[in-house]
Amino acid sequence: MEIKKVGVVGCGLMGHGIAQICAQNGWEVVVREIDQGQLDKGIGKVRKQLGRAVEKGKLEQADADAVLARITPTLEYGDLADCDLVIEAITEDLDRKLEMWEALDGVVRDDAYFATNTSSLAVADQAAATKRPERFIGLHFFNPAQVMPLLEVVRAERSGDDAVQLGFDLGEQLGKTTVAAADNRGFIVNRLLVPYMLDAIRAHEQGVGSVQDIDTGMMAGASHPMGPLTLADFVGLDTLVAISDVMAEAYGEDGFAAPDTLRRMVDAGDFGRKTGRGFYDYSGEEPVPVDSGS
Ligand code: CAA
Repeated sequence: MEIKKVGVVGCGLMGHGIAQICAQNGWEVVVREIDQGQLDKGIGKVRKQLGRAVEKGKLEQADADAVLARITPTLEYGDLADCDLVIEAITEDLDRKLEMWEALDGVVRDDAYFATNTSSLAVADQAAATKRPERFIGLHFFNPAQVMPLLEVVRAERSGDDAVQLGFDLGEQLGKTTVAAADNRGFIVNRLLVPYMLDAIRAHEQGVGSVQDIDTGMMAGASHPMGPLTLADFVGLDTLVAISDVMAEAYGEDGFAAPDTLRRMVDAGDFGRKTGRGFYDYSGEEPVPVDSGS
């Protein structure tokens, strides 16, 4: 099927980026959020990213305007009715995702495809909540979706070959590097990356190094673009707890369990960059490690 119109459910950290790259690729995009405030915030981020690209001379103002014009923000599922593909990027909570798929399944065209951008939940569990499991796949993008080259394409138990092929074709059209991943918890990247971030938090708890030194260590010693604690803040500490809970239950290994520090921070409402505080305080010009005492 040739994609012309894509629905994106969720306009948060991942959803706004997915909506932007789809619109940049020339597709009509309908992006749905639960309230006007969230929707405005997400579209504001797209506008800001496009503005930066114009400032840098990488995009003409007219093209940036055209990208924005291709994105229709909405609060109604009904506006996604004639999409060819719907990608969900809502909170990492299975009950909420199932509720959403049930609502969408009734309104979106029967021959449209569905994809979840879940980081850790089973694609098959979500597919089973719809009447179109053969048209259901996992499409796992990475943050920031506008920049990160990878797309994991996940075949679930009942995904059809055409749905999986659509995932690879979409990745190619968006200029992504695609990999096939099995429908296990965390797929390929999070299966390896999540225990690494959790281990960095445990290393900090054990006094192995300060927040800054752990991050600098991995950046300067292993050429990572971000240290693991900056990355945890970037992913979102609430999301990291949600993923680690799913993976700890699935794998039964201590390495996937959320460390106490992480749970305490999330309980306190410190979700990382998105709330302005995590392992770093983001209220000033530059992030300041919270263990620095400044
Ligand atoms: N949205 C859009 N574009 C962005 C962006 C954002 N949030 N952040 C940075 N960019 C763009 C910049 O505009 C810049 O573009 P140009 O090259 O066209 O000028 C480019 O990315 C590089 O940005 P900067 O120069 O500002 O900064 P940087 O070189 O430090 O790169 C980074 C920023 C790309 C985020 C880099 O630090 C990086 O790759 N970090 C690691 C990110 C990562 O590991 N992501 C995966 C997280 S795990 C995940 O997502 C899976 C999950 O399920 C949890």
